[in-house]
Amino acid sequence: MAKYRICLIEGDGIGHEVVPATKRVLEAAGFDAEYVHAEAGYEYFLDHGTSVPEATYDAVENTDATLFGAATSPSGEKPAGFFGAIRHLRQKYNLYANVRPTKTRPVPHSYENVDLVIVRENTQGLYVEQERIYGDTAIADTVITRGASDRIGKFAADLAMKRGKRLTVVHKSNVLPVTQGLFMNTILDHAKTVDGLTTNTMIVDNAAMQLVRHPQQFDVMVMTNMFGDILSDLAAGLVGGLGIAASGNVGDKFGIFESVHGSAPDIAGQGISNPTATILAAVIMLDHLGDHETARRLDNAVNKVLAEGPRTRDLGGTAGTKEFTEAVIKALA
Ligand code: NAI
Ligand code: MG
Repeated sequence: MAKYRICLIEGDGIGHEVVPATKRVLEAAGFDAEYVHAEAGYEYFLDHGTSVPEATYDAVENTDATLFGAATSPSGEKPAGFFGAIRHLRQKYNLYANVRPTKTRPVPHSYENVDLVIVRENTQGLYVEQERIYGDTAIADTVITRGASDRIGKFAADLAMKRGKRLTVVHKSNVLPVTQGLFMNTILDHAKTVDGLTTNTMIVDNAAMQLVRHPQQFDVMVMTNMFGDILSDLAAGLVGGLGIAASGNVGDKFGIFESVHGSAPDIAGQGISNPTATILAAVIMLDHLGDHETARRLDNAVNKVLAEGPRTRDLGGTAGTKEFTEAVIKALA
């Protein structure tokens, strides 16, 4: 029997390209796993009337981790019964930590010596989606609880202690002392109890500027949901963009690992998508599972191909998904 069971969800669009490519790479790396294929997303919804079938819950719950491609959310008015697959799975499984590492990669226009992780609170803030309108006044609630702030603070502090032992709490408590203040102070209270951890706070607008000017100063950054959504895309832009940005959604019990990009309908089906983001999501997954050895070998193989080519079009090359994937497999050997 294989050591690990992994659930694979391709989802929509280029998910059908980048997930199979990543599976091939994991197999070539000798990762000791068996795979369970499951469905989710807009294409599944159009055929079956739901975005996530029951069988997918079973697959997520009965495996050690899930690798997710991308899911389309149609813009404008949603068809009746439709819901966004990945947001739904994050909520259902209480995947409260969204982990987005940003590391210098050997690609054009990447900053040097960047190695930071943004830890985004994944369940609260403005993304509780409680909006309403009274006449010409629209109101959105933001929800921050001490429990969820403590949970994400502990997660971020633990992660920092495994890395550079530095934690930056990003906040806006100067303007929102009640909500942002509760988030920041709860995390600071915990951080004080962690021996050897250096903690600082930074207001979010300054954090955006500091990320662009001097991203090398950061190790682990923790922040509320929307700040994390925005700053993690900014961080991805420092080191090569969406084609290589990966993330993990982690809770106490389950983990779903995915690229940051979406289903890319403009290039889907052409065989030109860059699988790097999903391969690097698999690297985060391997680290999460404790197979650090395979994680490092995979990360190194990706870096070798990014440096020496062939590169995909989004990084200025001409390679297709298949050619790139085969180069990574060769680099692993
Ligand atoms: P997108 O990330 O799918 O694409 C943005 C641009 O980047 C496109 O030009 C695309 O061709 C390019 N791109 C993205 N990934 C690439 C890759 N691996 N290789 C080469 N080029 C790549 O974002 P967009 O177009 O705003 O959204 C498309 C759909 O994806 C929407 O329905 C959106 O809701 C959904 N989406 C889903 C996400 C998820 O499943 N977590 C995240 C973001 C968007
Ligand atoms: Mg986003």
